Amino acid sequence: MIGTLLLYLLAFKPLQNNSYTEEESYYELPRFWTSTGFCPMGEIRRESLKAVFFSEEVQMNLLHITALPAGAITHIRIHWLLKLVKFIQYSTAGVPMYDFADLDAFILNLDELGLFPVVEFMTDLDGILASNPDIEGSLWQDFSYQVTKHYLNLLGAKKLLQWRFETWNEPDVRNYNRLNFTVEGYLQYVMALRNGLTAGGRRKVNSLHFKLRGPAGLFKSNGEHPLCWSLIQTCNLQMSHCPIEVLTYHRKGQGFAKEVIESSSQLLKNVYEKYTNFRSIPVSNDEADPIAGWSTPQSYHEDVRYAAKLVYITFLHWHVKISNDVFKNLESISHDNAFISYHPYEFAQRTLLAHFRMNNSQPAHSQFIQKPVYAALGMLSKLATLAADVETITLNNSNNELWLLKTCSIENTPLYLSWLLLPQENTTTLGNFTLRRQLPFTLCAKENFAYIIEILEQGHTDPAHIWRAKANATPFPNKTQRAEMRYAQTPRLQATGLLSRAEFELNIGHFQLPWILLFRVCSYLSPVLKAPRPPVITKIAEGEIFIFWHEADTVQCLKTYEVWLKVNATAEWNIISKDWHLPFPSFQFAPPHSSVNGFYRVRGIDFFNRRSKFSNIVEYIEI
Ligand SMILES: *[C@@H]1O[C@H](CO)[C@@H](O)[C@H](O)[C@H]1NC(C)=O
Ligand SMILES: *[C@@H]1O[C@H](CO)[C@@H](O)[C@H](O)[C@H]1NC(C)=O
Ligand SMILES: *[C@@H]1O[C@H](CO)[C@@H](O)[C@H](O)[C@H]1NC(C)=O
Ligand SMILES: *[C@@H]1O[C@H](CO)[C@@H](O)[C@H](O)[C@H]1NC(C)=O
Ligand SMILES: *[C@@H]1O[C@H](CO)[C@@H](O)[C@H](O)[C@H]1NC(C)=O
Ligand SMILES: *[C@@H]1O[C@H](CO)[C@@H](O)[C@H](O)[C@H]1NC(C)=O
Ligand SMILES: *[C@@H]1O[C@H](CO)[C@@H](O)[C@H](O)[C@H]1NC(C)=O
Repeated sequence: MIGTLLLYLLAFKPLQNNSYTEEESYYELPRFWTSTGFCPMGEIRRESLKAVFFSEEVQMNLLHITALPAGAITHIRIHWLLKLVKFIQYSTAGVPMYDFADLDAFILNLDELGLFPVVEFMTDLDGILASNPDIEGSLWQDFSYQVTKHYLNLLGAKKLLQWRFETWNEPDVRNYNRLNFTVEGYLQYVMALRNGLTAGGRRKVNSLHFKLRGPAGLFKSNGEHPLCWSLIQTCNLQMSHCPIEVLTYHRKGQGFAKEVIESSSQLLKNVYEKYTNFRSIPVSNDEADPIAGWSTPQSYHEDVRYAAKLVYITFLHWHVKISNDVFKNLESISHDNAFISYHPYEFAQRTLLAHFRMNNSQPAHSQFIQKPVYAALGMLSKLATLAADVETITLNNSNNELWLLKTCSIENTPLYLSWLLLPQENTTTLGNFTLRRQLPFTLCAKENFAYIIEILEQGHTDPAHIWRAKANATPFPNKTQRAEMRYAQTPRLQATGLLSRAEFELNIGHFQLPWILLFRVCSYLSPVLKAPRPPVITKIAEGEIFIFWHEADTVQCLKTYEVWLKVNATAEWNIISKDWHLPFPSFQFAPPHSSVNGFYRVRGIDFFNRRSKFSNIVEYIEI
């Protein structure tokens, strides 16, 4: 599937008298950026990992990730997850028996949230490897078999085929290589995993094939990182026996998006030159972040700057994927940003959310604020199925550029157009500038079009700015301050209405840099939104709840959601999200003077102000 990019010629009739006559190629746009990851804090022991994985903070973090628009994040890569599996005893046949109960609980929760794990085989098998060094290979093979089989039985083939299985993270790094793999032992381990996955997928008819990814390597020099390189080298000799089918690597920048591409390019060129058989397999940068060290505070991690960096990284990967042979097999990238920040770096670490541990409350609890990078992932999820190459628009008399990604729906479906625009990285001034573009369709009497423009803007849709400027960077923001930050956490609705001309025109000179702008157009022929699923309500503190709902399938033309409350069976329904722009399926509710008890329902509104049916009603009673 990967690497067979379909080339679509522009599906629309060129307009008669203007610049839009050149035909532009549109390609199928795979959602290659929808993975995130984290490493649990604390000791790498089962009991402490269990405490972390099931902690209120991690569970809330996952809830927020799932409360992005459908498809914004699909996979989550979590180190040491398999350490939750407990060894019980050997069966009479000498096969290890494991207790999966803790991992099951975690996985079933992920499943309910609609997230797929990236399962890294990183565990000491609860100590039995160390006590049986002579049969490590068969232990690994049996373990990967048992994991596959167990979750196949629990969740079924359809879901399990969406999982990703990967070898040990950064095996050459001391801190990760806790089993002290030797080259020989490592190769045996990877091969054993492959065999176990194959055995796990074997069925009488229609055997399932689970791909193994690896080596999740940093690929420093051969001497420094012998494990990753030896795997590549061994594979290259006989590709048909290579245990890995997706080459995963880690390349980050030193603060700039383009450095991620440069260093990835260098690595891949290196690999392809020496190990030519790797030219044909999919590749994935599973930690494609702007800079290493998630916990090291960076001021740009706080605000729209990081959001823009994530978008640049995505745009650049798209550009090279369709234009540069080295990247033609790029399968995916992952952002390693599902960590939980800690005081005093609430916003400054590489995270999607700012985390406030409210030690001043009784009991202590956590408050999360969605950062602009979170909103950026939401915006990316609104791209359409076909995309042109990233277009650079050079501004008048300067080296500054705008980057524009134009996407549109496939032919013979109601028109949906989605453009994501932002100034290039490093832009310091734009000047007074009005961007005008013809839109690639003709307006006709029969079909109406409506549009929406949303923007993330530094200093405005910028909770960290509010926290610093208005709340004195307090570690314990109160209800008012939190509401203010949350009000600024989603993209701002800049403009919306019916299109009267097939033209985009917007003065962008006065936006504070950086900014990210999403322009979307829908046809009236697009279906009315379906009702969202009933809201799921989680208590945050007394008088405060987090409400989220799974979206219906077709939400491209969604403008905003509405959340309604009825305080008792005889009261009137009231809209509680009035004045909020809610393009993403969640709402935190903390009324200043009233209780949160009552009945809740939600609905979506599209660009034409057509309303979906209400979701089913959910009652909440505080305990
Ligand atoms: C790996 O080596 C380190 C240091 O040499 C040692 O402390 C540790 O016990 C070893 N681990 C295993 C699983 O053998
Ligand atoms: C809250 O308490 C925890 C545990 O004592 C501590 O680690 C953390 O730094 C405290 N947070 C703040 C904001 O004071
Ligand atoms: C941004 O500017 C800095 C300092 O001028 C420069 O070192 C860096 O290469 C620039 N990065 C990009 C992506 O243009
Ligand atoms: C920007 O330019 C437009 C005309 O191109 C003008 O109407 C507008 O007043 C200018 N804005 C500023 C802030 O100078
Ligand atoms: C181009 O630059 C000139 C001089 O700075 C300015 O007058 C003009 O408005 C600019 N045009 C655009 C489209 O930015
Ligand atoms: C929160 O703190 C601000 C600044 O001290 C204050 O003006 C506001 O009234 C407080 N809000 C609440 C709900 O305590
Ligand atoms: C229901 O709520 C309304 C509005 O707050 C209130 O006037 C009424 O007394 C309540 N009814 C019951 C039965 O509690």
